[in-house]
Amino acid sequence: MKKYDQSQLLKNLPEQFFASLVSKVNSYIEKGYDVINLGQGNPDQPTPSHIIKSLQMAAEQPENHKYSPFRGYKHLKEAISEFYKKEYDVDLDPESEVAILFGGKAGLVEIPICLLNPGETVMVPDPGYPDYLSGIALANAETVFMPLREENNFLPNYKEVRKEDLEKAKLMFLNYPNNPTGAIATKEFFAETISLSKQHDICVVHDFAYGAIGFDGKRPLSFLQVEGAKDIGVEIYTLSKTFNMAGWRVAFAVGNRSVISAINLYQDHLYVSLFGAIQEAAYTALTESLECIRDMNQLYEQRRNIFINGLKKIGWEVNAPEGSFFAWLKVPDGFTSQEFSDYLLETVHIAMAPGSGFGTFGEGYVRVGLLTEEERLQEAVERLKTLSIFK
Ligand SMILES: Cc1ncc(COP(=O)(O)O)c(C=O)c1O
Repeated sequence: MKKYDQSQLLKNLPEQFFASLVSKVNSYIEKGYDVINLGQGNPDQPTPSHIIKSLQMAAEQPENHKYSPFRGYKHLKEAISEFYKKEYDVDLDPESEVAILFGGKAGLVEIPICLLNPGETVMVPDPGYPDYLSGIALANAETVFMPLREENNFLPNYKEVRKEDLEKAKLMFLNYPNNPTGAIATKEFFAETISLSKQHDICVVHDFAYGAIGFDGKRPLSFLQVEGAKDIGVEIYTLSKTFNMAGWRVAFAVGNRSVISAINLYQDHLYVSLFGAIQEAAYTALTESLECIRDMNQLYEQRRNIFINGLKKIGWEVNAPEGSFFAWLKVPDGFTSQEFSDYLLETVHIAMAPGSGFGTFGEGYVRVGLLTEEERLQEAVERLKTLSIFK
């Protein structure tokens, strides 16, 4: 059989760092170990039943068996606009300021392709969600990393960015509540971002994947709630985490019309639109009671409290995340992130993601996903205690 070479474009794609963690974890499971897997970001709870029922009913409607309209159902876009009004008091025109996406990941990877020419520059948080780099590679664009430091509450310090990088930059990714650090953004930070963007003509993409998850009574801010945001950027919102619908692949972009129009144009050439029944279920999720979101938030907050308090009790000095379902923990002295992650898997069969997989400034940390039952989190604390490596 003839072996075809992959294109240079594919060869430019970054390595999927977490593939190696998954295979290490699986090898321990195959050997029969009871691994507590805190290394991944897959919501463990089911999709609320009213959304599943809506899919079941919609799947039976012949109308949904046809190609759905290019750019999606009008009533879904109207529901998205109403959801943003209800949740954030943001006004959106459903036709020109909303684009339906096949999951947030697709939108995040499409945007650099939609807006950049080869060699143009994107500002990216470090540590950060690795898929931003995939879109940048596919657009043949360049990356400037913005360090997220604990002393600055994991917000980038724009004063640290070189002037020539700001001049070159065309696009910037931000993500709050943040994966992997669990930090949330302030209104002042978003306002500073908008002013910087206007000054240097940088389009801002705010990834709001964890928008529904904020703790201690702090409701995460939508970027679009801050004045001027729609002039300079878009927000990507996914149903994956808010409604435990990660497998359903449904999300949307909202905000700046020219960006929305570029996404729609690009998608016209790749897809028709999402399966109509999925769109109907997304409509149900956004328009019916949002009590399920508050319940989910409470569940993660309870897990966070149990886990973080447990770690503090055994002497691991950690800070509690303010949002998202991740905890970002400093590794004890004497280990790199990778060494510590390997050590935990080998000794107590707990998987945590090494922070270095999220970028250079992730070194010295591990990321924990609070995506397992309270009892398992408690057991993880008990197992960690047996190591006697914390003061
Ligand atoms: C920061 C961040 N952005 C975007 C996504 C993509 O989510 P989805 O493609 O399921 O919408 C994830 C998923 O883990 C994420 O952590």
